[in-house]
Amino acid sequence: MSVKKICCIGAGYVGGPTCSVIAKECPHIRVTIVDINADRIAAWNSNELPIYEPELEDIVMSCRGKNLFFSTEVEKEIIEADLIFISVNTPTKTYGVGKGRAADLKYVEACARTIAAVSKSDKIVVEKSTVPVKAAASIQRILGANMNLDIKFQVLSNPEFLAEGTAIQNLLHPDRVLIGGEESKAGKKAIETLSEVYSNWVPKEKIITTNTWSSELSKLAANAFLAQRISSINAMSAVCEATGADVEEVANAIGMDTRIGNKFLKASVGFGGSCFQKDVLNLVYLCESLNLPKVAQYWQQVIEINNYQRKRFASGIINCLFNTVSGKKITLFGFAFKKDTGDTRESSAIYISKYLLDEGAKLAIYDPKVSRRQIISDLSHPTISTPEKVAELVTSVTDPYEACKDSHAIAVCTEWDMFKDLDYKRIFDCMLKPAFIFDGRGILPHEELNSIGFHVEAIGKTVSKGSAFMVQSNGNNILSPTSRVLP
Ligand code: NAI
Repeated sequence: MSVKKICCIGAGYVGGPTCSVIAKECPHIRVTIVDINADRIAAWNSNELPIYEPELEDIVMSCRGKNLFFSTEVEKEIIEADLIFISVNTPTKTYGVGKGRAADLKYVEACARTIAAVSKSDKIVVEKSTVPVKAAASIQRILGANMNLDIKFQVLSNPEFLAEGTAIQNLLHPDRVLIGGEESKAGKKAIETLSEVYSNWVPKEKIITTNTWSSELSKLAANAFLAQRISSINAMSAVCEATGADVEEVANAIGMDTRIGNKFLKASVGFGGSCFQKDVLNLVYLCESLNLPKVAQYWQQVIEINNYQRKRFASGIINCLFNTVSGKKITLFGFAFKKDTGDTRESSAIYISKYLLDEGAKLAIYDPKVSRRQIISDLSHPTISTPEKVAELVTSVTDPYEACKDSHAIAVCTEWDMFKDLDYKRIFDCMLKPAFIFDGRGILPHEELNSIGFHVEAIGKTVSKGSAFMVQSNGNNILSPTSRVLP
C-alpha cells in the first residue's frame, strides 16, 4: 500500500509544521490537517499563521491549496485518509488519579474513538503525540473494539523530536525518524509504508524502527535526558556563584570531553516549553506506577532543580534591588520560553513574573513575538496572579527602549538575538540609577555593559563587583545576611 492521502489530527506546534513539511517533500500526497479549534484552522488558512516558526510561512504558502489543506471537517478527512497522524495535545492531568504528573490522554482517546466510528476502509493510525508507554495498545484496543465490519487498523508510534524555534530545519534534516510498530506481518507492512513517506527526503539509514514500547519510551527518555542536562548545568551554576567559578568556563571545559559533548550546556533561568516538564513528570508517574520509586525520585529532581533555578533568579533580583521590589519598575526582556518562537507554555518568564509580582514589582514586558493578550492571559492564570493585580502591575510594551524608561532593572528571560544588539547606552540613560541588568540567558556583552555603568548580574558568574546576587539554597545570601530565598 502506498499512501495517497494523509490526515493529521491536531493543527498545533507539531501537527502544523510536521505535515506542512510532508506536503512540501511529497507533492504526490494530499495532506489535510484538521482541528476542532475553528479559530486555529482559520488562522492556518489566513496570511497570519497561528504559530511562529522560522521558514514555516514560506512552506505553507507554497503548498497550501495544492496538496496541503487545513480543515475543521475532522470526520470527512478521516474517512478519506489512508494514514492518520494523531498530533493532539497530551497535557499533564489537572484532576483525579495522577493529577499533576500523568499525561492526560483524553484527546488521544477521543481521536481513536472518532476514527473507529467513522472509518470505512483500512487505515494506518500513527501516534505522533508524546504518550506514556503502552498508549498505542489502548488506541489499538479502542479501534479493535469499535471497528466496523472487517476494517483493519495498524497503530504505529512515530514520536516527534522537533524543537520549537528550529522545527522546520529539524523536520527537513532530522537526526533520526523513529517508527515503532507491532512485530506481526501487518505491523511490519505498516512500518514500511510510513518509512516510504519519510524516505522521500530522509536518508534511509536515519529511519530507525523498533517495537512500539521502545519507540514510545524513547521519546520520554530523550526529553528526560535533555531536561536533565539543563538542570545539571543550572545546578552547577549555583555552585559557580557560590565559589567564584564561571559556569561558561566550566561548560566549555567539560564540553570538550567528547563523552560529554558541548551542546545543551548553557546555564539559564531554567527550561520551559510544553514538553520537558510534562514529559519528565509523565516518566516519574510511569516509574511510580511500575513500583520503581527510586527511579521516580531521580527524575523528579530534574524538575525540582528547574523550579529552584527560577526562584533563585527572582530572589537574586530582589536581593540586588536592596531587598525590595515593591512599587519598582522592572523590565522583562523576553516572555517566550525560548528564542524564535512565540510559544509561552511553561515559560520561565511566567514564573519569574509571578515571584516578582508577589513582591509588588511593576513589570514592563517586551517580547518581539508574544502578544499582549497572551502575556496578560498567562499571568492572570489562577496559579500565577489575579487579573486585578496583573491589570495594576503589568504592562506589555512593543518597543524595548520604551520598556526600559524609568526602570530599576532589566531581566533577560529569553535569549532573542536582538537583545544583543540594542543601544545599551541609550537604555542606561533612561533608567533609574543604579541601573541593574540581570542576564538570565548569558547572552549580553557584560564587560561593555559594566563600562557603561550598569550593575550586571549573570547566572553562574560574577560580573560586577559587590554582587549581592548569590543565594544559597538554605535561604542565606552569601554576601548579604538580610536577603532571602522566595518560599
Ligand atoms: P498543541 O496544543 O499546539 O496542538 C494540539 C491541537 O490538537 C490543538 O489545536 C487542539 O485543538 C487539537 N485537538 C485536540 N483534540 C482534538 C480532537 N479530538 N480533534 C481534532 N483536534 C484536536 O500541541 P502541540 O505542541 O502541537 O503538541 C502535540 C503533541 O506533540 C503533544 O503530545 C506534545 O507533547 C508533542 N510534542 C510537542 C512538541 C512541541 O515542540 N510542541 C515537540 C514534540 C512532541
